Amino acid sequence: MNTPPAPLKVTVVGAGFYGSTLAQRIAEGNYATEVVLTDVIEGKPQGLALDLMQSRPVAGFSTRVTGTNGYAEAAGSAVAVITAGLPRKPGMSRMDLLEVNARIVREVTRQLLDVAPDAVLIVVTNPLDEMTALAAEVSGLPRNRVMGQAGILDTARFRHFLAEAAGVDPSQVKAITLGSHGDTMVPVPSLAWVGGVRLADALSAEEIAAAVTRTRDGGAEIVGLLKTGSAYFAPAAAAEAMVRAVATGGRGAGEPLPVSAWLDGQYGISGVYLGVPAQLGPGGVEEIVELPLADDELTALRAAAEAVRTKQAEARALLS
Ligand code: LAC
Repeated sequence: MNTPPAPLKVTVVGAGFYGSTLAQRIAEGNYATEVVLTDVIEGKPQGLALDLMQSRPVAGFSTRVTGTNGYAEAAGSAVAVITAGLPRKPGMSRMDLLEVNARIVREVTRQLLDVAPDAVLIVVTNPLDEMTALAAEVSGLPRNRVMGQAGILDTARFRHFLAEAAGVDPSQVKAITLGSHGDTMVPVPSLAWVGGVRLADALSAEEIAAAVTRTRDGGAEIVGLLKTGSAYFAPAAAAEAMVRAVATGGRGAGEPLPVSAWLDGQYGISGVYLGVPAQLGPGGVEEIVELPLADDELTALRAAAEAVRTKQAEARALLS
């Protein structure tokens, strides 16, 4: 087993399928000293942590996993991921979760900040962009220290559907998805490539449109199939990529990743959390990257910003 180089604690709030799969992926990544998994359900995080610890001799990682119902164990975390909240049921939109999850995210953020004031916060609770804005506001942290996970997941879905349509491995597909994690998601066909060929030359307009639609509805399709709960393998992979980039990244270390980040003039948008490419590192969002979008894509991104801005205000009003 390799020993991780420096002490690094990551806390995952919520031991549902998303949180527990995320804890597993971080632990198996073997770059953290400890993963703290906390949940209000008595015994669940402790049981999952014990199970994960017992996997260490076989899976070959040194990261310790601690399960708890409180927050004391999260003290000193460098990164904390908020997965707590209710998932959708079939037929629900992510927005239907606004009020109930706003209360949960507010409470969790306060608890985390008490013990880990220096943590970078990653929010994955839905509705994603609105919950990220709420956590930033409640925490009072600089906006670059709070971000949301969605763009990596939405991008992964887009690459998957394009790869399936083109009959290639997803590693051959370069693509990105921006905007909100919802109806105003903005997959970006103009900057997509399949095996070194521009997307428009690799697939028909109908095939591209089908991939865009299926990406936008990607979460709902899985909710409809599962009937209870929502997707967690791809979402947890996406959140782990963010944790890893914050923990081990920084300028010049790795590619920018699409995340829900606070915009302050980039793309002509200000004062809202929205999916854009960002360079992540120990400080959180270290730089937002401005891509040369096609006109219709930029228009869609700005429309997404206005939709999220309205809902962010609604979330704030619900709690005041
Ligand atoms: C999804 C949920 C996690 O898109 O938002 O699957």
